Amino acid sequence: MRILNFGSLNIDYVYAVDAFLRPGETKAAKSLMVNCGGKGLNQSIAAAKAGNAVWHAGLLGGAAEMLRDKLAENGVDVRLIKPVPEQAGHAIIQVDESGQNCILLYGGTNRMLTKEWIDAAFDAFQAEGEGGLVLLQNETNLVPYIIEQAAARGLSTALNAAPMDDGVREYPLDKLTWLIVNEVEGGALAGTEEEDAILPALRKKYPHCGVLLTLGAHGARCMEPGERVTRCGSYRVRAVDTTAAGDTFTGYFLYGMLHGLSIPDTLRLATTASALCVGRPGAADSVPEKAEVDAAIAGERFGALFIGQEEMQ
Ligand code: RIB
Repeated sequence: MRILNFGSLNIDYVYAVDAFLRPGETKAAKSLMVNCGGKGLNQSIAAAKAGNAVWHAGLLGGAAEMLRDKLAENGVDVRLIKPVPEQAGHAIIQVDESGQNCILLYGGTNRMLTKEWIDAAFDAFQAEGEGGLVLLQNETNLVPYIIEQAAARGLSTALNAAPMDDGVREYPLDKLTWLIVNEVEGGALAGTEEEDAILPALRKKYPHCGVLLTLGAHGARCMEPGERVTRCGSYRVRAVDTTAAGDTFTGYFLYGMLHGLSIPDTLRLATTASALCVGRPGAADSVPEKAEVDAAIAGERFGALFIGQEEMQ
């Protein structure tokens, strides 16, 4: 099944620091890398590397052609990327010695989508084939409109509700096929900080959508629209840079869901892909190829992975 990603496109300015800046502090970075990023771009590349047919739709700001080139190099269809003269989206990212990051985003052209352009992108996508899944992140404007349009057009949808803001609560989330959240986003939507209470609360609020909850070192949980929950642990790996680990998980998760893999196999695939991703610096460039992920699973490169299923009460 094809994926249409209305996804953000960012230039990432990545500064290596020994520790994150504190208020009022000035300090020199140890290095600077300028990378292709944006949750949208990273997820398109991850989904394409996993083996999905991906179309990326977005507005490409001035002097940001490298973003479109990077998508095309990775086999993503870029015909629905429209160049515009305004300032491109970008991210200022600090990566500390433990590989953790903190990210300051400037939305730029990612937040200039119009309903007319969105409708035209849907029309073009649907003119070339039946069905498909619409992928979204919360880095563009008009997310609720795109969810409504996708539902009206009979397409399935997945929203990675990152970065979280108050507006997400008002989105028509129960129209989604998959809601993809980490513990912060899931907790904010569910109204609880207790990890075990997040999925039951989300099921009550959005009974029709499946939920993928990623928990960093605590692994991931996947709740199908029915009652079943699959829990998956994580591998112990040394992180060089965690940027795009979540995006990698999303891209590989969607591959499993769209290609008939079981949920345990899908979570194993996505967890292994993310473990490979965090071992490398950068965003889109750190997403592993599918063959590498398959080899890591076959060779048990990161050791054993706990996966279990339970019915939710
Ligand atoms: O998920 C990582 C991404 O978040 C970075 O590439 C950055 O651009 C921000 O969008």
